[in-house]
Amino acid sequence: MKKVLFVCLGNICRSPMAEFMFKKYVEEKGEGGNFVIESAATSSEEIGNPVYPPAKRELAKHGISCEGKRARRLAEKDFSDFDLIVCMDENNLRSIERYFGSKSVQKVRKMMSFAGSSQDVADPWYTGNFEKTYKDIESALDGLYSYLS
Ligand code: 4NP
Repeated sequence: MKKVLFVCLGNICRSPMAEFMFKKYVEEKGEGGNFVIESAATSSEEIGNPVYPPAKRELAKHGISCEGKRARRLAEKDFSDFDLIVCMDENNLRSIERYFGSKSVQKVRKMMSFAGSSQDVADPWYTGNFEKTYKDIESALDGLYSYLS
């Protein structure tokens, strides 16, 4: 079983998009049963809230449902529960490193590194551009899957 946790600031836009896009990706490969895929927030702002409606609509455009997802905070036990923790931007990376300390290097990576890029996943919170976020995440899925295989 491979266990991946996606992380962003609020867990209502980028990381749930990555969670449900990667779930669909592995299901289409017939590998759904071999993965545990979740997402979490570095902040407590949005805890308990559903996926932000424009993010939910962007997923729906691609036939992806995120029904039932509620934002949750990153927890200490996530480090042992997951094989890989994938964050969306530099700020997330710094927050996670503060939280887990030096052991972070073992299993925390930035999403776009799987697309061979040092960039952040586009943050739609201020731009409203959820399509760009979708495309960035999509470009990293093959690399992420290969890394885990
Ligand atoms: P996310 O988006 O981190 O991709 O879920 C955001 C959600 C909430 C806020 C910022 C970004 N906020 O400032 O509350």
